[in-house]
Amino acid sequence: MTIAVIGTGFIGGTLGRAFARAGHATVFGSRHPDDKSVAGDTGATTAGVPDAIAEADTVLLALPAAAVEDLLRTHGATLDGKLVIDAANNVGGPVANHAGLVARFAPGARYARAFNTLGGENFADPVFDGVAADLFYSCAEADRETMDTLISAVGLRPMYLGEGQQDVVDGMLRLWFALAVGQGHGRNLAFRTLTR
Ligand SMILES: NC(=O)c1ccc[n+]([C@@H]2O[C@H](COP(=O)([O-])OP(=O)(O)OC[C@H]3O[C@@H](n4cnc5c(N)ncnc54)[C@H](OP(=O)(O)O)[C@@H]3O)[C@@H](O)[C@H]2O)c1
Repeated sequence: MTIAVIGTGFIGGTLGRAFARAGHATVFGSRHPDDKSVAGDTGATTAGVPDAIAEADTVLLALPAAAVEDLLRTHGATLDGKLVIDAANNVGGPVANHAGLVARFAPGARYARAFNTLGGENFADPVFDGVAADLFYSCAEADRETMDTLISAVGLRPMYLGEGQQDVVDGMLRLWFALAVGQGHGRNLAFRTLTR
């Protein structure tokens, strides 16, 4: 697997470095590819956005929601046959995810909704009192193993919600905001599922 991380800010940087540290071939897709600093010492590479998408089979969207449609319009054909992981949140919009835009502009891509329900602090430090937080996600069953691998690479416990469950995933996003921000618990807040 080669994963392209589009967006080299807080979320893209944190996740891309974690993937690379776990040994996955990772290329950051950046508007300023000569700046290699986002990779740090992880072995990840940096390229322009088109080159990063072209060389990957899995593409993580870690850019502002306002930039997603243009990216998909421009690169929809290149995304054919690839897995697109949507971490971008259209906060305040009618729908926070971009499943509809991926289906429209990149119909040959596969879609996963993940890495969007927790503040990025919890991707950088996912363990609470020795227990890894859960990351809730949705994708086709066939992509589950890939997603579990990438989520585990970050140190989170994968919690699969099924295919086409991006709205349920986004419910966790709303819950996170309600607790972390609305109720003032702070951004170092995550979830763990209890079963017996
Ligand atoms: N912050 C969080 O805790 C959090 C948690 C979960 C999900 N998210 C979601 O993750 C996404 C990124 O958030 P962030 O906090 O990482 O933001 P950020 O730190 O501002 O980083 C955004 C990155 O996107 C890049 N970018 C912007 N427009 C682009 C374009 N047209 N093409 C390529 N790259 C572009 C920026 O590159 P330049 O340097 O070139 O401007 C920057 O590297 C957002 O959709 C957000 O909703 C955020």
